[in-house]
Formats: sequence, structure tokens, C-alpha cells
Amino acid sequence: RTVYVNGDYLPETEAKVSIFDRGFLMADGVYEVTSVLDGKLIDFDGHAVRLQRSLDELDMASPITKDDLLEVHRKLVRLNGIEEGMIYLQITRGAPDDRDFAFPDPETTPQTIVLFTQNKPGLADNPAAKKGMKVISIDDIRWGRRDIKTVQLLYPSMGKMMAKKAGADDAWMVQDGFVTEGTSNNAYIVKGNKIITREKSNDILHGITRAAVLRFAREAQMEVEERNFTIEEARAADEAFITSASTFVMPVVEIDGVPLGDGTPGRVAPRLREIYLDESR
Ligand code: PDD
Repeated sequence: RTVYVNGDYLPETEAKVSIFDRGFLMADGVYEVTSVLDGKLIDFDGHAVRLQRSLDELDMASPITKDDLLEVHRKLVRLNGIEEGMIYLQITRGAPDDRDFAFPDPETTPQTIVLFTQNKPGLADNPAAKKGMKVISIDDIRWGRRDIKTVQLLYPSMGKMMAKKAGADDAWMVQDGFVTEGTSNNAYIVKGNKIITREKSNDILHGITRAAVLRFAREAQMEVEERNFTIEEARAADEAFITSASTFVMPVVEIDGVPLGDGTPGRVAPRLREIYLDESR
């Protein structure tokens, strides 16, 4: 695999980042995951805009322009022959001479930028979408700025492990009684024909897939309500689903061991998945 590190395209075994990198020492970095279908990037613009916002919120400079970033994405897709998969991008505050809590001067410490591809043939036809997934609920004890896409992913990783241990696929996090989001996806329930998902705030990541799916749903005359919902309301819903750049739209068929409806994907989530895949490729 060819990867991109600080301006160079290299074999992955030759790519290097300093042990003083603040991404490594302090999780002082942001990231994006962009999907690729039919060799084309899905929603690059949305990801580039969110990346810039994450950088701005953390007072971090960007080592690359948006146009150059697009070129790097395209070149990696081409060099690695990606038809279906993802591109991972990470920018950190770089590697100062020593470990220090204060931010280094961006003039003397350039940011680190890394991109690599992940080949996932069959991503669009993922059989998991036919079966649906199981989630458990866990406390949301993450920090208060989940709208910034930082690489602090320890708690979401722990949540994923709690889910696996419980025989489920993922965890939905709950704060003050209300669902925030999944470990790496946005969460939705369906009641009647109404799609319900938490409103945007600092409590959740503003998903690029979320924005597209809600737009397509409204265009298809489906009713969308952006509001908080509880796990109890979710357990009594007709359907539930998640969205993310790596799963698109994925039905949820069980919450905390309780099947939703008859425990199979309903009508709305599979339809939204189909619309999303049709419209965005
Ligand atoms: N995760 N919420 C969280 C906490 C996420 O980490 C993600 C994305 C989303 C969905 O955002 P989007 O639709 O822009 O992918 C919501 C990526 C895929 C990841 O960490 O791999």
C-alpha cells in the first residue's frame, strides 16, 4: 500500500512519524474518513469543510490546502486501485522537540499529515445491512466537544469492546437519559414514518452522512424530526439505524437484547440505504 506522509508518497513500511508527535503523545490531532465507491470519493467537500472546522476549533493550522488535499485523496485512490473502501486522513499539531502541554509554535513545528487507504471490496453490498445490527446502551462519558473530530477514541473503542462482550455489534451512548450517538456513527429511530435523530450540538459529531441522509429523506417526502430521544423510546420504536462514512445506512434490529419489531430490518432504513447509495455515487 502506498501512503502519504508530510508531502511524500511512500510504501507503508517506509512511512515514519516522530515519537514526539503530539497525536501520539496527547491525542492532539483531528481526522476524517471518506468513503470511496466505484473509485470515486463520496462527499469530499463535506469532509474537507468539517476538517477545517475541527482545525479551527483547536486553533491548529493546516499543512495543506483543500485543492491539494483533494489531489492527494485522488492520487492514493489511483495508486492503490481502490474501487470500494475508505481513505483515512489525520492531521496532528506536529512533533516539537520535547513533551510539553503548551501548544508548540506552528512556525517552528509543522503539523503532521498522514493519509492511507483501506480497501473494502463489497462495502456497498455489505451483507450486514440485510441482517441488521445489535446495539447495547452505555454511559456517554466522553469529553464535551464531540463535534470536533479528534483522535481521542479510547472510550469509543472501549464501548465497542463492551458491545462485543455482550454479543452485540456496537454501543449507543446515553447522556442525561438521552442517546447521543454510536461509538463511530450517528443514531436514529423510526416511529411510524417519522425519522428521529438528535439535533446537532457539541454533544455529537455532525455526520457528513447524517447531513446527506436527512436531505435525501426530506426530498423523498419522509418526515424528519431532529430531537433527543431516550433508550426507552428507542426500544419501543418501529425501526432504528445508524449512519457513517464507513457503514452508510445500517439497520439496528436489537437494543439491549430487545428486538425492534420482529427483529429484522424494517422498511425505512433499507430504503434510505438504497437512496443514499444511489444518490451519492
Ligand atoms: N466515524 N459520530 C461519531 C462519533 C463518529 O466517529 C462518526 C464517524 C460519525 C459519523 O460521521 P460521518 O457520517 O461523517 O462518517 C458520527 C468514522 C467513520 C470513524 O471514526 O471511522
